[in-house]
Amino acid sequence: MTTINRPPQPRGELTLQTIAMPKDTNANGDIFGGWLLSQMDLGGSILAKHIAKSRTATVAISEMVFLRSVPVGAIVSCYCDLIKVGHSSMTINVEVWINLISTNDPIKVTEGEFVFVAIDDEGKKRVVPKQG
Ligand SMILES: CC(C)(COP(=O)(O)OP(=O)(O)OC[C@H]1O[C@@H](n2cnc3c(N)ncnc32)[C@H](O)[C@@H]1OP(=O)(O)O)[C@@H](O)C(=O)NCCC(=O)NCCS
Repeated sequence: MTTINRPPQPRGELTLQTIAMPKDTNANGDIFGGWLLSQMDLGGSILAKHIAKSRTATVAISEMVFLRSVPVGAIVSCYCDLIKVGHSSMTINVEVWINLISTNDPIKVTEGEFVFVAIDDEGKKRVVPKQG
């Protein structure tokens, strides 16, 4: 039997893509973790708003890991995977992968679990519509 070694692939759908810029660096000259976290929040909220068909608010972030540093100029992609829909909440796994000019395969740099809540115009929680 032939074994094909495929490189690991992103999980979920691509919701946000941008380029890491010099203004977003930390004291080491790499990209600041807080900037990555905000991209993940934005990427996850794009999927959450799509599911909720309303405004959403981030209520919790957990299981956050930073696997490697991100250099300036990297193409940064957020992939989002819906894990669970509750009454008003949506749990979404967000992965960040980067593409470097020097390599072909994307590299996973960060992963976290985000909980978003569907909210109405007054900021009160509302029911997430049934999927499908
Ligand atoms: C989001 C918000 C409207 C929720 O209102 P609430 O009346 O307190 O709602 P609840 O406590 O019932 O929580 C709502 C849902 O979130 C879930 N939730 C709340 N806290 C959670 C936590 N720490 N971890 C996981 N899920 C959580 C609840 O289980 C519930 O899920 P369900 O409806 O699917 O069962 C309110 O907490 C809020 O406005 N928070 C601030 C949000 C914000 O400003 N975010 C941006 C920060 S930068």
